[in-house]
Amino acid sequence: MDLFDAIVARRSIRKYIDKPVEFNKITKIIEAGRYAPSSGNLEDRRFILVTDKGLIEKISHNCGEQYWIATAPVVVIACAMTDINERNYGLRGKRLYTVQNTAVAIENMLLAATSLGLGSCWIGAFNEEKIKEIFKIPDNIRPQAVLTFGYSDYIPKKRKLKPIESYFYSDKYGTAASSPHIYLKDFSVEWNKKLQESQDFFVRFFKRMKKAWGKVFLGENNKNNKGKK
Ligand SMILES: Cc1cc2nc3c(=O)[nH]c(=O)nc-3n(C[C@H](O)[C@H](O)[C@H](O)COP(=O)(O)O)c2cc1C
Repeated sequence: MDLFDAIVARRSIRKYIDKPVEFNKITKIIEAGRYAPSSGNLEDRRFILVTDKGLIEKISHNCGEQYWIATAPVVVIACAMTDINERNYGLRGKRLYTVQNTAVAIENMLLAATSLGLGSCWIGAFNEEKIKEIFKIPDNIRPQAVLTFGYSDYIPKKRKLKPIESYFYSDKYGTAASSPHIYLKDFSVEWNKKLQESQDFFVRFFKRMKKAWGKVFLGENNKNNKGKK
């Protein structure tokens, strides 16, 4: 699947069919996470792969009331190594890069899953302490997200997104792009503009012609009129 197609096709899937995921697909998903960029190439993220039904059931009881998680044949706990970034980049590393380094890997994984025909969901609402306890996660490691993977039980509805013009500004924050269609390569707008301009030109041209011809005839009439007097 083309990358952009996968980006558009990816949806959060919240119910899976009872079918195991092929191991080579799971490996590819982890690989996709591994290849994501990281600040200073620190690779400060780790993933706990969970396929045991009992453990997945336990996870589902620690994510609010999101019991549908138990239908997923594969769950991944995405963990951030909280101290490495701080050592290298201070507070900015701790607060920002640590989160970003894991988040970017997660998105890679979700996209890889989509391209492999799998559904997925990023779950942020979970009891961190409980998850740490169940999976024996040390203090310097923070579970950042629970990810579900599996074959979807349904076809998700089409997404309704905010219009693309509202997503970006031109040159300065808050300044709406003057011609967003140019950025979007929507040339139909330009064509319509040109069409309108040429229509306006002809309308003006014919108006002038009419006026000019009118003057000529009116002038002649005036002469005739003068002659008559
Ligand atoms: C940081 C983060 C936390 C999220 N937490 C949850 C969650 O706890 N449960 C859930 O069902 N979806 C969760 N989602 C998925 C979003 O609800 C979902 O991405 C959003 O509604 C857009 O839908 P889409 O993924 O189908 O495009 C989370 C997504 C992100 C990025």
